[in-house]
Amino acid sequence: MSHNPWTDLGPESDFPTTGHTCFDTPDVDGARGTALVIVKNGDTWYALENRCPHAGRPLGDGECAGLTITCPYHGYTYHIKTGKNIDFPEEETPVKTFSIRVEGGNLQVRLTNDEAENS
Ligand code: FES
Repeated sequence: MSHNPWTDLGPESDFPTTGHTCFDTPDVDGARGTALVIVKNGDTWYALENRCPHAGRPLGDGECAGLTITCPYHGYTYHIKTGKNIDFPEEETPVKTFSIRVEGGNLQVRLTNDEAENS
């Protein structure tokens, strides 16, 4: 059985092209949706989990600067593409990142991994 791993977020034009926006995907089949931070930098979209791995606070409350986002609660800064902690890349847990694309004018995010799709 084929399963589309991409979740539609709506028209690309609905998302701001500067800074970032928070977006919660809908619950599906009783499974809770995913809280995301969506960022556009240049021509590229990025999607991260809206949860700071340091203490679980909403990372989307912070500020973006270039390819980084800084959590306002304790000041940790993360790379929006890799999710890695800028100051402690080896010591601290990265933010979860997701593939994101534009398809038919809509933003779509891939919340599942390849292994799940192929099983
Ligand atoms: S919760 Fe984000 S830096 Fe502590």
